[in-house]
Amino acid sequence: MTPAKAGTSVSEPAAPAGFVRAGLLADLEDGLPTGVVLDNGERVCVVRRGDAVWAVHDVCPHRGFALGGGDVVGEHEGAPVVECPWHGAHFSCATGAVLNGPCTDDIPTFPVQVLGGVVFIGARRSAPGTEAA
Ligand code: FES
Repeated sequence: MTPAKAGTSVSEPAAPAGFVRAGLLADLEDGLPTGVVLDNGERVCVVRRGDAVWAVHDVCPHRGFALGGGDVVGEHEGAPVVECPWHGAHFSCATGAVLNGPCTDDIPTFPVQVLGGVVFIGARRSAPGTEAA
């Protein structure tokens, strides 16, 4: 990395409208679900695979524990499947759908944009099947 010259600063891209900075792509370990608390207070579990990043709510509906620190155990609809480290429920990072119990509830997902090596996360999407009629 080239150091910044005196009087200059290395600037990051601005957050897109409706998105919040979550951190640097380079700080995310590939394939390791990682819990992040955003500046807006959202608890998000981010999963990196190469240059792609997914984000789901970092609260397992089964007992309310974090998914961060769990494992990636497969793929669903082209996205990683996260295993809750507590009792083993599986969730699709693509849709938030629960794929394996003991949990029976889906989880919200979040849109992600990676710009200039910075990960930005947008507003929470409702879990499948929970939208108001
Ligand atoms: S807290 Fe996640 S499966 Fe129990």
